[in-house]
Amino acid sequence: MSAQLLTQAPSITMTGVKAAYGRIEVLHGVDLSVPAGSVLALLGPNGAGKSTLLKVLSGRLEETAGEIAIGELTFKHRTAEALARAGVCSIPEGRGIFPNLSVHDNLVMWSYRGESIARVQEVAYQRFPKLKERRRQLAGTLSGGEQQMLAISRALIGDPKVLFLDEISMGLAPLVVAELYELVQQIASGGVTVLLVEQFVSTAISVATDAAIMIHGKIIASGSPEEMGETAKRVYLDGGE
Ligand SMILES: Nc1ncnc2c1ncn2[C@@H]1O[C@H](COP(=O)(O)OP(=O)(O)O)[C@@H](O)[C@H]1O
Ligand SMILES: [Mg+2]
Repeated sequence: MSAQLLTQAPSITMTGVKAAYGRIEVLHGVDLSVPAGSVLALLGPNGAGKSTLLKVLSGRLEETAGEIAIGELTFKHRTAEALARAGVCSIPEGRGIFPNLSVHDNLVMWSYRGESIARVQEVAYQRFPKLKERRRQLAGTLSGGEQQMLAISRALIGDPKVLFLDEISMGLAPLVVAELYELVQQIASGGVTVLLVEQFVSTAISVATDAAIMIHGKIIASGSPEEMGETAKRVYLDGGE
């Protein structure tokens, strides 16, 4: 397989994308476009298929129908490994760290794109000094916020052009969430296309440049974050968060 690399933040388009777990279809024809360099917040109720959509985009689940384009990438089969090497960083629900490895060894695992381990550590520890203090600790025994910092360190390494984030605020204190999203904003401003799923609509809207709403396996609306926040309240939040 020839090595494909994203050289700049790409646009992402999905057309008529379907996906299933066994015989149960969960994505029923998703149409979505994420403009190059934007931060798109994907909103929607529990069970709508948001995590499934990110799984498909990041090569962890194969679609059963439809078209997906991530910039100039033309993979026939988008494997998670090939996408990661091309510059797609995906931080799945539940943090995507190795709980039984130390902080240090987690960072070692992420130096697969040719970065030196020293460089990876320097970047992560500089941004999160707390991780340095805890470098010998098993990642699974870190606090929720520290685990998420470790997970997000991956997006600082290897200069990704695409970042997928699935509910990074899950179970975290508001202050920690604010710190994490500040970092997301920093990463985004460096030329990255971001697609983020977030339960807290107001948090998502504060960082997003675009938004879309998914309900029952389909995108039912897309537009500005403010507009979509209002629509979300009307359609599934019953007026409040
Ligand atoms: N691994 C799986 N096996 C079978 N069904 C699944 C699996 N993961 C998710 N589902 C189902 O797919 C639907 C969409 O789930 P998900 O994409 O996680 O939604 P969301 O992230 O919007 O809450 C749900 O009905 C869920 O139960
Ligand atoms: Mg989910």
